Amino acid sequence: MKITVIGAGNVGATAAQRIIEKELAHHVALVDVVEGVPQGKGLDMYESAPIELFDTKIVGTNGYDETAGSDIILITAGIARKPGMSRDDLQNTNAGIVKDVTEKAVAKSPHAIIIVVSNPLDVMTYVAYIRSGFPANRVMGMAGVLDTARFRTFIAMELDVSVQDVNAFVLGGHGDSMVPVIKYTTIAGIPIKELLPADKIKALSDRARNGGIEIVNFLKTGSAYYAPSAAAVEMIESIVKDRKRILPCAAYLTGQYGLNDVYCGVPVKLGKDGIEQIIEIKLDDDDLKALHKSAEEVKTNCAKLKFD
Ligand code: NAI
Ligand code: 2OP
Repeated sequence: MKITVIGAGNVGATAAQRIIEKELAHHVALVDVVEGVPQGKGLDMYESAPIELFDTKIVGTNGYDETAGSDIILITAGIARKPGMSRDDLQNTNAGIVKDVTEKAVAKSPHAIIIVVSNPLDVMTYVAYIRSGFPANRVMGMAGVLDTARFRTFIAMELDVSVQDVNAFVLGGHGDSMVPVIKYTTIAGIPIKELLPADKIKALSDRARNGGIEIVNFLKTGSAYYAPSAAAVEMIESIVKDRKRILPCAAYLTGQYGLNDVYCGVPVKLGKDGIEQIIEIKLDDDDLKALHKSAEEVKTNCAKLKFD
């Protein structure tokens, strides 16, 4: 198992660290355009191996030769949000970057599975899908796992219970219109509506929707990366170990949920072949409408892309 992480910034470097410490691959290639940064971070991480006790080899590079034959490519390259910026403000810059890195990476690893993190997430995943020419089961985006983790954390904080007992799904695009699905939110199997009043549930959903900007407003110079890298690595682990976890991921829809030709966050089964199944859960009318609205926003932004 070989994994390439593109972008050695906050999310990429932290994801690489989590991958090697969990020994999810024999070899990790960390790629960035900035000379010295991936080499320095890669070597620094490798030097932690005798202490953290992992045998995964990690190499930092500015080129793609070292990435050849990767099984998984994690794309985190691009600019991140600063206060006052929406994820969509990143679209033009990041589309150019994601096109470029996708083409270079897939030329060396034609059988890989691609996981995109760069924002705006659903649009960038579509860019990677088009540019890679890969089948849709091998191109997906990370957002739902993060948004759901945030929602679960806020619920656990509110109820003072273990996060492990909170189950939830946040679906839709990774933007202000994402859809925390209350119907499937349970605490040790108990529907959340039996434990919290509607106004409190709405406040927690809103906080999850605004979870990204809450961190941006604290950090001021960038966006979240501890939870995002953990979320990406949870997806990688399910693929590497063929665990077949059911996780909300940005998947290419071909009629599921009444949506077509769009990347949108839905529950999927993740295994060695990537997205092995898109799971269609029964949504209430309001949630289905919200999912459609969110997907429409992704489509509108995808229509602004220029492919030469
Ligand atoms: P960062 O600024 O710390 O790192 C980005 C890295 O990409 C930099 O090191 C930069 O040099 C590199 N880069 C730029 N162009 C490149 C190219 N052509 N080839 C290789 N590397 C290149 O940003 P951070 O915090 O790591 O975020 C990365 C991206 O992930 C942003 O677009 C951010 O909005 C997004 N993000 C998405 C999340 C999600 O839930 N999908 C969560 C968190 C971040
Ligand atoms: C987040 O939700 C910036 O999309 C990123 O933290």
